[in-house]
Formats: sequence, structure tokens, C-alpha cells
Amino acid sequence: MSLLEVEDLTVHFKIRRGLTRKSIDTVHAADEVSFSLERGTTLALVGESGSGKTTVAHAILGLNKPQKGSIVFAGRDLLALSRGTQRTARRGMQVVFQDPYSSLNPRMTVHDLVAEPLRVGSEISGDALRERVVELLEMVGLGTQHLWRRPHEFSGGQCQRIAIARALALSPDLMVLDEPTSALDVSVQARILTLLHRLQIELTLSYLFIAHDLAVVESVASAVAVMYLGKIVESGPTATIFEDPRHPYTLALLASVPSPDPDRRSAGAALSGDVPSAIDPPSGCRFHPRCKFRMDVCDQEIPPLEDRDGRRIACHLPRDFDLSAEQEAARAARSTAVVEDRQRSRARPRGDETPVPKMPRRW
Ligand SMILES: Nc1ncnc2c1ncn2[C@@H]1O[C@H](COP(=O)(O)OP(=O)(O)OP(=O)(O)O)[C@@H](O)[C@H]1O
Ligand SMILES: [Mg+2]
Repeated sequence: MSLLEVEDLTVHFKIRRGLTRKSIDTVHAADEVSFSLERGTTLALVGESGSGKTTVAHAILGLNKPQKGSIVFAGRDLLALSRGTQRTARRGMQVVFQDPYSSLNPRMTVHDLVAEPLRVGSEISGDALRERVVELLEMVGLGTQHLWRRPHEFSGGQCQRIAIARALALSPDLMVLDEPTSALDVSVQARILTLLHRLQIELTLSYLFIAHDLAVVESVASAVAVMYLGKIVESGPTATIFEDPRHPYTLALLASVPSPDPDRRSAGAALSGDVPSAIDPPSGCRFHPRCKFRMDVCDQEIPPLEDRDGRRIACHLPRDFDLSAEQEAARAARSTAVVEDRQRSRARPRGDETPVPKMPRRW
């Protein structure tokens, strides 16, 4: 059984408008989202800004209130439990946010930051508590010399290590990583990803990994779910999604990887226009206004997410529709991104003094 099974998860936000604040709009942030995460593996959630990735993560963590659906974590349906029982059932999951500075209380020392979850969620105290804090810091590559310092004395990478140590304190099974390296220098990014990879193997952790950088996703995730305007449009094993993408949005997203090469920049046009408002999402397939293959049915019927060709896909295009030109463009953009990625990893390390272990191509 999967560690995490999300089924039909729907989160809408009500917002009041106008002077009287009476008229109410509904933001369709996540609609009937389904995926599962296997133990010890990484599932990446990708999609443009506003597609609902954080909303889904927050629903799993109990930080918003879904209207519909189920979240089965370690065999327990969280949304069917009382609030108090949900909190206990969620002990096995932790989160690491994008900005390490704002997620750590600047007034607390590293010792207190890492000890806090242990004081609240475990029985350990005294010497055992101190030993556990030191052990956790060592696990993330920090030493006892860092114990009594405060967050502002650290680099972004080191702060993210402290945030990871805090998250590991209560030995979680699942870590929700919401853009954990996006705020960091590229060379520091690689070190944090390597650390996460090592911890995943040593502690059999499962990661729900939210990221914008598709090159990072390809190297860290075993499975990928692509979101567009609150819906999953395509999901499956990383190799399938990257090497044989079939949904026009996945294809456009992969072809839109920014490139410094002017000859390749035209690929970015694959994804033209802005994401429509989540308050009044397009009818039928939400991607249809931006889809160059749209057919009559596309604005009329919502395509179901169905199993097809080794992945799940929600698209009205016939199975044998020729997408070879788009697949080629996506492949070309990806190979440029891989070369850039290699060049970037060779960049001189700054700000995070832990030696750089070699980053594996795939976890
Ligand atoms: N608390 C809220 N109240 C109202 N609308 C919200 C709230 N939280 C998120 N939204 C809206 O829900 C949609 C999805 O937002 P979300 O933050 O989940 O996207 P995201 O994929 O994480 O984007 P990003 O990549 O920028 O982090 C957006 O339209 C956003 O404006
Ligand atoms: Mg987000």
C-alpha cells in the first residue's frame, strides 16, 4: 500500500469582493486531484505559478480545509478523523518551506530551533534531548559549533539544513518539500539536494517535492504529477513523463525551459499567454484556451484523468495523435537544460562550506 493516497482532493477558497464584501467569488485552487506516493520514493508536483501545488501540499498538512476528497496517510483517511486525531495522525509528516529565513524564528538559537519539536512532540529531555539535537545537526552536516548561534548568522543553505534538522526531529515518514531549493544559489542547491537524497536512503523517507525547475525534478523524482489550474493533467514515472510526454501542457512546459541560446528561445512560445483566473476557470479542459491542438469537444467536456500508455492523462486528443514535432522540441529544450545544469554545478561553491558530494543524475 502507498504511504500517501490522495483521491479527488478539492480545495476551493471563498473570497469576498466589493465595498459591501457581500459578493463571494470562489477560487478553484485544486479540483479532484488524485495521486499516490510510494514509501521511500519522491513524487514531484510541477506546474506554473498558481496551478495549486502549495494548496495540495497544505491540504495534506492540514493547513487548509478541503471541500471534497480523501487523503489516506499510512493507512488512515485523515479527512474522516476528528481534528485532534488528525493532528496525531499527521505526526509522521513534516514540511520544509522555500524560504529558510522566514521559516525559522530569528530569536531562537539553533539548539532551541531543533529541540522545539522534540519538546512538544516527544518525551525526551535533559542530556538525551541535547544528544538528539547534536545527532540531528550532524545528520544535516552541521556541528556542535553551530548550536548556540541564531539564524541570521547562517547562509541560506545552512538555514535550510537547520529547517531540515527540525523537520527530521520526530522521525517522519513523509517530508513535504515546497520549493526547498528555489531561494538558494545554484551550487548550494546541489548540496541540499544531495543531502535530501542521502537522508531519503538512510531514513527511508518519502518526499512530496514541489518545484519549478524541471531539470531538478528530472534528477530527483521517481514520479511526476503535472498540474494546470487546479487539476492534474498528466502523471506517471519520471522517465515516461520526460521522455514521452503526451499532454499538450506537459509538452509546452518541457519545451518552455528557458535557454540562453537565442536559436532555441522560440521554444518558449510553446506556452504563450497567461494562466487564466482560477476564480472562473475555462469550461471543459482548463488548458483549452492555450492549447494549439484544441478540438470542439475541449471547451465542452472535462477530460477524465485516465490510465493510458503507462501514465495517467486527462486529454481529449486521440491516442494515436501525432505529437512527434512537439516531443522533439521538448527533448531539445531538455538537452540544453541538462548541459546548463552541468555547467551550473561546476560553478564555484559559495556560502555553504560543507564539501560538495557528487549529485546523482537520478535518485
Ligand atoms: N488562502 C487563499 N485564499 C484565496 N486564494 C488562494 C489562497 N491560497 C491560494 N489561493 C489561490 O489558489 C491558487 C493556487 O495557489 P497555490 O499557491 O496553490 O499555487 P502554486 O502552484 O503553489 O503557485 P506557486 O508556484 O506560485 O507557489 C492561486 O490562484 C492562488 O491565488
Ligand atoms: Mg506554491
